Formats: sequence, structure tokens, C-alpha cells
Amino acid sequence: MEGITDRRSLETRELTIVNEVAKVLSRSHNFEEAIKDILKTLYSFWDVELSFVAIFKPHIKALQIFKAFGFSDEEIKRGIFKRGEGITGKVFKTGVPVVLTDLRSNPAFLNKTRVRDKLRGDETFVAVPVKVGGDIVGVLSIFKAFSSKESIERGIETLMILGTLIGMFYKLNERMEIERLEWEEEKKILREELKRTYNIHGIVGQSDAILNLIEVIKKVAATDTTVLITGESGTGKSMIAKAIHFLSKRKDKPFITINCAAIPETLLEAELFGYEKGAFTGAHTSKKGKFELANGGTIFLDEIGDMPLSLQAKLLRVLQDKEIERLGSEKVVKVDVRVIAATNRDIYKLVQEGQFREDLYYRLNVVPIHVPPLRDRKEDIPLLVEHFLQTYNSKYGKRVKLSPDAVESLIEYNWPGNIRELENTVERLVVMHEGTVRGVDLPPHILAYRRKLLGSEPMDLPRKIQATEREKIVEALEKTGYVKSRAAKLLGYTLRQLDYRIKKYGIEIKKY
Ligand SMILES: Nc1ncnc2c1ncn2[C@@H]1O[C@H](COP(=O)(O)OP(=O)(O)OP(=O)(O)O)[C@@H](O)[C@H]1O
Ligand SMILES: [Mg+2]
Repeated sequence: MEGITDRRSLETRELTIVNEVAKVLSRSHNFEEAIKDILKTLYSFWDVELSFVAIFKPHIKALQIFKAFGFSDEEIKRGIFKRGEGITGKVFKTGVPVVLTDLRSNPAFLNKTRVRDKLRGDETFVAVPVKVGGDIVGVLSIFKAFSSKESIERGIETLMILGTLIGMFYKLNERMEIERLEWEEEKKILREELKRTYNIHGIVGQSDAILNLIEVIKKVAATDTTVLITGESGTGKSMIAKAIHFLSKRKDKPFITINCAAIPETLLEAELFGYEKGAFTGAHTSKKGKFELANGGTIFLDEIGDMPLSLQAKLLRVLQDKEIERLGSEKVVKVDVRVIAATNRDIYKLVQEGQFREDLYYRLNVVPIHVPPLRDRKEDIPLLVEHFLQTYNSKYGKRVKLSPDAVESLIEYNWPGNIRELENTVERLVVMHEGTVRGVDLPPHILAYRRKLLGSEPMDLPRKIQATEREKIVEALEKTGYVKSRAAKLLGYTLRQLDYRIKKYGIEIKKY
């Protein structure tokens, strides 16, 4: 009779524990807090004075005590178990619970945390796996004095249930954490874009070239076609891409930029298409690619001319099928994304040289937009100067003006870096000067250019071409931090051709 009563009361007790743990999990939002509360519950409802949960940490390739009850900080720190090491490591490896008695003398008990001295001697050590589906992610271990063998069996069963509950919560939490990070990233992108929205109307210019361009921008914004923007560096390609997006019906959806030249070839694919957890070493979580992030909106593929051929094939497929596959996944995801691409390279030449796929070129080039260099639309210079003076005066709280002859020199200069160079020049003048900037206050290279133009011997055409070429090389070198191989690539020269020209023009190579 007594045996039966005993068993009954034990069952009730264990059900209560499972129930309490479930309650803890249902009100918890945080894995760490939840585990802490669970271990506390084991103490209050089940007299477990020592317990811990160890979780596998991939970066140290071992299990580590994540939360413990009854352990000192020092003891917790010592709680690191390799796969298969000691009882905890073994449970992690096999997924089978282990029970150990006679802890004071049992050699199987490694006492890694050195809690042996705290034990009274009648405790049993029970360790069970923390499971997520078929995967084991950690181990739940307790030290408890059980009253009978039967109660140990019940105890293991109870702990196995807790291990599963903890595992489920672990997984849920991981998902929530991934989603939170993704959400943060999306929020950041949206915020960035919001800041730049005003730039839609920021296209300044009065030349026929710019006025035509604005007409084209408005027309293509009303459609969903792919656009390829070409033009030298700094002419406003990125700005135009943004303007098209923000004038289109997709304006409230994301505008996502990816610079195909800035990202290492090996990472570009993952950036574009995303990946699943475990797709490659280091892929600890899964991640959405830019195409998925841009869903409903626009993706801007900057420096498309630098996209490796292997990815060009994949991109072509996305453009045709409007669906992507994350790395390491078979699943096909439908995406509704408008593509705008830009390059400062002669892309048609790249096609002829076999560095850019012809089929992709035609696919992208549905509406070509060419942005002419600033030196071919000099009538825009005074307006741009005025625009940037206003911008930077207000940014720096100043009232800098330019004298008419200073403006004249700026109009004469040939601006190899186009509008970006003009913008930087004006910003520097605003920072460096007070009141009115005179012609002589302009940077030396602009003055030198003017002197050349005004020089007694008029520059003949070949010399003019050479001067432009020299400036282009210097600019490319500046842009690439004087890494010659990259500058050569940017200019479309071989390294030898670039070296030859560096010597010919006596260009000084700065070392950083
Ligand atoms: N028409 C314009 N009116 C006002 N600002 C302009 C204009 N065109 C370009 N800008 C400004 O000049 C700078 C360079 O433009 P942008 O970055 O769009 O050039 P880009 O052609 O994309 O250059 P890169 O090839 O180096 O990427 C930006 O700060 C942009 O706001
Ligand atoms: Mg750009």
C-alpha cells in the first residue's frame, strides 16, 4: 500500500515541476533568464541544490556551462567539456542520459568544476541531452539525493522532458534573435534611404544633357524596366539610380545598393542571394541576400562591370526567372525586384573582350542612360558651385562666397573626377576660408591647369589629350590608394601599359 502512495506522490511532484518549467518558458523572452529560472524551480520544487545547463559553443568546439545553480563563478568558469569528455561530454556526444552515484569515489566523475567538496555524499549525478529535433545542442545536469532507485528513474524521465522543453525554447530564441538582427538591418537600410530621399530633387543642372537626362529618368521611373547607367566616376550615376527608385511606384519599398567591385568575389554571391545556416564554414545562421531584402523595391548593382563571370550567369537567371536560391538551399524564392545597374567602365568593350556576358549586357541594357562627364556640360558648373556652396555653408555654419574669377577658373578646369571632385573642392574651400575666395586661393592643380590654358603657347590637341590621360591616371591611382594593379583595372590598362604611362608622365607614386 505504502509503495503505491509513494509513487503517486512522486508523480504529482514531477508533473508539478514540468508544469512550473513550462510556465517559466511561457512568460520568458530571454533564454538566459529562462534557464536561470528553471534551475531555481528545480531547487524550490525538487531540492536540487546543484544544477547547470551547458551549451555547445562552436567557436571553442566545446560545451560550456551557460547557467548554473549553486555553483560559484570560479566553478562555472571551469565548466568546459569537450565532446565525449566526462559525463557531460559523453551525454552530448551520444544523446543518452547518464546516471552516476558514489560521486566521492567514482572515477567516472571527473569533477572538472571541482564541486566534489560541496557534496554530502548521497547525491546522484544525472545528465540529459538538451535536444532540438534530432540535434543535441547542450546538456542539463543535476546533483540530487534521490530516495529510491525508482525515484531516480522518474527523475531521468522528468529531466528528459525538461531537456526537450529547453531545446525547443533554445531554437525559438535563436530564430527570434536572427529575425531581430534581420529586422535591425532592414531598419538601418530604410533609415539610411529616408535620409537621402531629398536627393531626388537634388539633381542640379541646366545643360541640355541634364535636362534630357531628367526627362528620361521620369519616363523610366514610371516603368519597371531594367536600367543600365554608364558614365565616368563621379558623374552622378548613383544619384540617378536613387532618383529613379524614389520617383517610381516602388518608392516606399527598399532601395538596396550593392557595390560589386567592393565586395570580395567569394562573398558577393552570398551577399546577393543569401545563405542557409551551414552553407559554408562560418555560416552559423542563415541570412537573407540583397535580392530578398530588396523585395518589392529596387536593387542597385553598382560597378556591375566588375561582377565575376560566374555570378553574371546567376544574375541572368534571376533576371529571367525572377526567383533566387539561397546558398546551401534547394528552395526557390520568388522575388519582385527592379534592377538598376551602373558602371564607369566601357561595358561594351568588356563584352567584346569576353569579360562580360553579352546576353546579360542586352538584358540589363533595356534602357541605357549615359551620364556625360562634367567637362562636356560646363554650363552646369556655376549652378553646381552655387548648390554646393549653399549645402556646405549651411553644414559648417559659414558664409563663404567665390569671386567671379574663382568661378571662372572652376569652369575652365576639366574635372577628371567630375561632380564628386567639384563637390569636394567646394567643401574644402568652405572649410578652409572665410568671406570671399579669390582665384588665387584655389587649389594648385586647378591654378596650374588655368596657367596651361592661358600659357603663351596654346596647347595642341595631342598635348591636351595627354594632359587628360595623365589626370585620369593620377585620379585612378588616388582612388585605389596607389595600388597599381587596381588602378590599371579601373583604367582598362594592363599593368605594363600603366607602368609605361606612369614613367612617361613622370607620375609620383605615393606610398601609404
Ligand atoms: N546633377 C547633380 N546635382 C547635384 N549633385 C550631384 C549631381 N550629380 C552628382 N552629384 C553629387 O556628386 C557626388 C557624386 O555622385 P554619384 O555618387 O552619384 O556619382 P557616381 O557616378 O555614382 O560615381 P562612382 O562611379 O564613383 O560611383 C554625389 O555627392 C552626388 O550627390
Ligand atoms: Mg556610384
